[in-house]
Amino acid sequence: MDLFNRQGTTYRQVVDQDLMEHRALSTAVAKAIDTWMESVGSDRGKREPPRLVDLGCGDLGLLAPLLRRLPLGSYLGIDLSAQVLPLAAAALGPVAYPCRWRELDLLSWAAADNPAQPVDILHSAFAIHHLSDGEKARFLDLCRRRIAPGGLFLWADVFRQPGESRDAYGARYVERIRNTWTELSQEERERVVTHLLSFDHPADPVVIQAAAAAAGWRWKWLWRGTHQAEALALLTPA
Ligand SMILES: C[S@@+](CC[C@H](N)C(=O)[O-])C[C@H]1O[C@@H](n2cnc3c(N)ncnc32)[C@H](O)[C@@H]1O
Repeated sequence: MDLFNRQGTTYRQVVDQDLMEHRALSTAVAKAIDTWMESVGSDRGKREPPRLVDLGCGDLGLLAPLLRRLPLGSYLGIDLSAQVLPLAAAALGPVAYPCRWRELDLLSWAAADNPAQPVDILHSAFAIHHLSDGEKARFLDLCRRRIAPGGLFLWADVFRQPGESRDAYGARYVERIRNTWTELSQEERERVVTHLLSFDHPADPVVIQAAAAAAGWRWKWLWRGTHQAEALALLTPA
């Protein structure tokens, strides 16, 4: 289902070569969490250290440095692929807070009823676009119930342009891969293309923002890449 399962290290090369602008994205994620930490800082004596859940954590290649310095209460990494979880644990290394790793579908995590464990920081990067539009709307609804008051959801992903069809999005992303991802071999590029055309369902930003509002979220774009695809949204309880 995913590049990690099907194509071994190809996704790692995409990250290492910054082909999807992960570096700028990581900076934006760190800034958002640091800002939030500062805003709750004055309450810190009164509230427990924040719980962070990472949906589709992958191998944590990029998030690990940030996680190592955050004063978290706990971290839960969820991924559909069991094989990435030990890689993620190794990338993170020892930290001062408890970490758990679970092989699980992110929609199943969202659907689980756990009111005793509200999540302060929900993070997901490049995983939710695998859900259908209906599943994405359901996911937003379910996650809204799992977020703590004053919590935040950082959603990094690929998105379509407003009104753009999935086919038109696919065509322009495929053109980008074939023409500019020259750091990958032609065979690797074609594997990514096949994956994208088979499994990717990026949200239309207008449609998904309406679904988020209906589910009780306030939406703000924090960062947009230079290719009208990769972006980071901040969702907070409305
Ligand atoms: C493109 S990788 C991104 C990994 C990491 N978040 C990052 O940004 O480097 C997507 C990850 O999401 C996982 N994934 C895809 N669909 C998922 C789902 N429905 N539930 C949980 N994990 C999923 C994949 O196994 C993969 O590890």
